[in-house]
Amino acid sequence: MEQKTAVRPRINIAIDGYSACGKSTLAKDLAKKLNYLFVDSGAMYRAATLFADRHGLFDEQRNLNVEAFVEKLGGLDIAFTEGFIEGKRHVMLNGEDVEKDIRNSHIAKRVSAVAGVPELRKKLVALQRAMGQDKGVVMDGRDIGTVVFPDAELKLFVTASIEVRVQRRKLELDAKGQFLSFEELKEDLLERDHKDMTRKTDPLRQADDAIIIDNSDLDKKEQLDLVLQKVNETLQGLELN
Ligand code: CDP
Repeated sequence: MEQKTAVRPRINIAIDGYSACGKSTLAKDLAKKLNYLFVDSGAMYRAATLFADRHGLFDEQRNLNVEAFVEKLGGLDIAFTEGFIEGKRHVMLNGEDVEKDIRNSHIAKRVSAVAGVPELRKKLVALQRAMGQDKGVVMDGRDIGTVVFPDAELKLFVTASIEVRVQRRKLELDAKGQFLSFEELKEDLLERDHKDMTRKTDPLRQADDAIIIDNSDLDKKEQLDLVLQKVNETLQGLELN
């Protein structure tokens, strides 16, 4: 007799949270385990920041010339590589792989100003929604559960203590030969969180139906196991309905 195997429904998983709290690591591991598409929406805002920087749109105080930026938006094309490079799809700016150029403190210090521009958000949110229309996406960012996928079947809001976040980001940057002090990094992260939470358009906010994951005392595997349990519960709930 032919054995029937139940096909599990595919869902969208929205992961939001503060800067450097391990969202992308979690999203990437989760997507790999579930065979879903991982989308790092922060990489898209970072690529847009590189675009603004290359056009000389920041002054010395890191203020963005918003008007000029909005005028140039028609010439901004952001996408991801088709294939995987070192385990992930790289972000592309106008056809160029810029994954390495966006992961530094120069971009990190400027990205919140760019991410606050409503016209840019509209453009990127449309791209992000298109990526999730067939389900099976794990996307991390700041407004995924609230704006991009308000109907996501599973929403997580990730937090960790500021000390843990700074330490993790420091190790990450040290490994790339970018040496910043603990204090400077702490200031950067807190400033970015503040800007992300207080901007007018799509601020960082916990969705009412998000599950909070505090990973201060969890290692990568413990965090993944905990979240896989939540995924299973969500899928079981859907199968029962
Ligand atoms: O990895 P990290 O937590 O440092 O930040 P990221 O996810 O690369 O995001 C960089 C910045 O992009 C954030 O600080 C936000 O200003 C912006 N962002 C956003 O506004 N909306 C998103 N969905 C994702 C990122």
